[in-house]
Amino acid sequence: MSIPRSLALVAALSLSASCGSARATCDATSCPTGCCSTSGRCELGNTTQACGSSGQACTSCATAQQCVAGACSNDTSTGGGTATGGGTASTGGGTTSTGGGSATGGGTATTWYKDVLPITQVSCTGCHRAGGVGPFALETYAQAMPMAAAMKSAVVARRMPPWMPDPSCGGPFVGDRTLTQAQIDVISQWADQGAPEGNAADAPMPPGPVGQLPRVDATLTMAEAYTPSATRSDDYRCFLVDPALTGSRSVIGYDIAPGVAAEVHHVIIYIVDRNAARTRDMNEAGPGWTCFGDSGLTSPGPIGAWAPGTGAVIYPAGTGIQLTASQGLAMQIHYNTNSTPRVPDQTSVRLMYSPQGTAVTAAYLLPLVANGFAIPPNATDYTYSESFDNPTQVLPIKIYGLMPHMHTLGKSIRISGPANTCLVNIPRWDFHWQQQYFRPQPFTLPGNGAVTMTCTWDNPTSRMIRWGEATTDEMCFAYLYATR
Ligand code: HEC
Repeated sequence: MSIPRSLALVAALSLSASCGSARATCDATSCPTGCCSTSGRCELGNTTQACGSSGQACTSCATAQQCVAGACSNDTSTGGGTATGGGTASTGGGTTSTGGGSATGGGTATTWYKDVLPITQVSCTGCHRAGGVGPFALETYAQAMPMAAAMKSAVVARRMPPWMPDPSCGGPFVGDRTLTQAQIDVISQWADQGAPEGNAADAPMPPGPVGQLPRVDATLTMAEAYTPSATRSDDYRCFLVDPALTGSRSVIGYDIAPGVAAEVHHVIIYIVDRNAARTRDMNEAGPGWTCFGDSGLTSPGPIGAWAPGTGAVIYPAGTGIQLTASQGLAMQIHYNTNSTPRVPDQTSVRLMYSPQGTAVTAAYLLPLVANGFAIPPNATDYTYSESFDNPTQVLPIKIYGLMPHMHTLGKSIRISGPANTCLVNIPRWDFHWQQQYFRPQPFTLPGNGAVTMTCTWDNPTSRMIRWGEATTDEMCFAYLYATR
């Protein structure tokens, strides 16, 4: 199978780009240090509103109680959760563990303000901030100090910051979150020394917003809230959101904010004709319209996509996806309610346009659909590969970004160019961490060149698993962000 013949033909595509999930979002593995709220979030576990540990359900303590070590206690004399580690312990707390202190040369303490904050404000607080996707904030000393041991364990095991690509393939990608060994050592030593605060005067300059768009030109929200289908656990619904442009603009960045993250399993925003979308919407009862596979309307392609783990996306400098005044956007949302109650959702997207009058090279999100697989029951390491011709077949195209996608049984996904040049490789697929990976320099695919995508799965079920839209089906899919 090949990707479309010409970039202009991307319009004619009707392909499936969906996803699903079955894994519970909060349990002892995903929330080892806190407790799980009713909405499935991992909470700190040491506040009176959300008390608990080891991924158990959070408890609200009675008014007179405190939360001490993950349990509600009537004894308020200990000072609750804040008692441990004291304020400025320079030794004491860590005592035995790894000998981290010796690495700093004895006397000098590794402190929050001097050593740790310069790392966390670049590498952690993009997610671990008020309103961020992380389950707790790590913006202040008071927030980070009780988490010191958990922070050490997460960075030493390289669970945090999350970063999925194999470093030896295609990268380093823009925004690589991998910490250096020296940074990991600093966080370890700080935790081992009892998480000393240090002197606020040592604090580094704040780096500006991390993980957010630098500028928001439009915020488009579903006109009405929508409650997912009461009968289907996988509900695909499209909603018109209208940028109401008066002239052509290029989308150079976006940030999709799912209304109810627990039930929104993906969002793809397709460019559509505004009037056609209005008609489609009016012909079906309720907000929006049913749309499996794509927007159900003719579309020159998407402007962007969101799956769990996707943050704000800024397209490579000088490129963007063009929108004209007659175009609207159809937000295709896959709701999955297998393991979560149905509640009204109102998802929105923030857009950043190129400044008026600046020239921007038109880019496209080209889909790669490798759908010919059939994973036998109980298979392990079942592998499937497909190659895709350059869509122009003549002209070289420049591939700037890649967004691989599988469902929850996926184990690995790799995309390569001619002569097996590795473009991106996700050796341990995790449905919860999906995003576009951008190269600092584009990869030029020659006119006669092809890309190859290879996926591997385990199938623990007793049925054959094929390509499909449902959460329990699988995919071997990617978007390539490319220009001529
Ligand atoms: C891209 C977003 C993101 C970044 C960046 C990030 N985290 Fe997280 N973190 C999360 C999310 C979401 C969870 C909860 C789900 C999970 O564990 O995957 C989490 C969980 C955690 C946990 C508890 C679970 C565990 O694995 O131990 C710790 C501790 C943690 N993060 C520390 C950090 C530290 C320290 C940094 C920076 C060095 C960091 N995180 C960077 C999103 C992020």
